[in-house]
Amino acid sequence: MSDILSVVTLDGPAGVGKTTLARRVADTLGAPYLDTGAMFRCLALKLGPGAERLPGGELRERCAAWTFSLAGSGSGTTLLCNGVPVRGEVRTEEVGMLASRLAAAPEVRDVLKAAQQAIGASTALVAEGRDMGTVVFPHAGFKFFLDATPEVRAMRRLRELEERGERPDLAVLTEQIRKRDAMDRNRAVAPLRPAQDAVIVDTSTLDIQGVLGVILHHISVRGGLPGGR
Ligand code: DC
Repeated sequence: MSDILSVVTLDGPAGVGKTTLARRVADTLGAPYLDTGAMFRCLALKLGPGAERLPGGELRERCAAWTFSLAGSGSGTTLLCNGVPVRGEVRTEEVGMLASRLAAAPEVRDVLKAAQQAIGASTALVAEGRDMGTVVFPHAGFKFFLDATPEVRAMRRLRELEERGERPDLAVLTEQIRKRDAMDRNRAVAPLRPAQDAVIVDTSTLDIQGVLGVILHHISVRGGLPGGR
């Protein structure tokens, strides 16, 4: 069983670099990481557009048909849905938007919260998402909230997509990020916001290495790194 102190939570808005950081922190701790956005994205793909408007009981049942587990650790962690690895097809901006809509439904959040807590009960974990420190792991030992302006996040995403050979439009990306921020921050259930006891890291002027340094420093001063570092 995991000690709750061995859960690290990384929350923050779309495009702030949570997944990259979760992988790096997980490598340092020798623990798996849980990309909870990928869980919402995966359900959004499985259930299809408009699923958030289904009657509550039916929505809950359809979500509960999908079970999630982790294999491996550090950056080698794989998220499995019904035993099958969740792949890159969930990573598009369109699926992100579908996921954000679906994530406003309390039935969906309930089912995934139980799955996330079950995973955290059996292993040390780096959990990233929107409500890890506030709702899912309120007693986690180390909580971080990452933030950056929409413009900075859109520019990062632009570079990422360009590296994959795509030619995105910066204005469109900025608008998509603002729209998803608004939905994630303003929903009634588990809105995006920092936990009271989270360390807030403004990543606007830091690169990944810089943010990682801040996070590992905070974990280390509280004796949370392997070997007491
Ligand atoms: O982190 P991401 O962009 O992959 O997340 C996709 C959407 O899923 C996000 O816009 C809102 C939702 N989400 C959530 O509501 N709670 C989480 N813990 C993780 C993601």
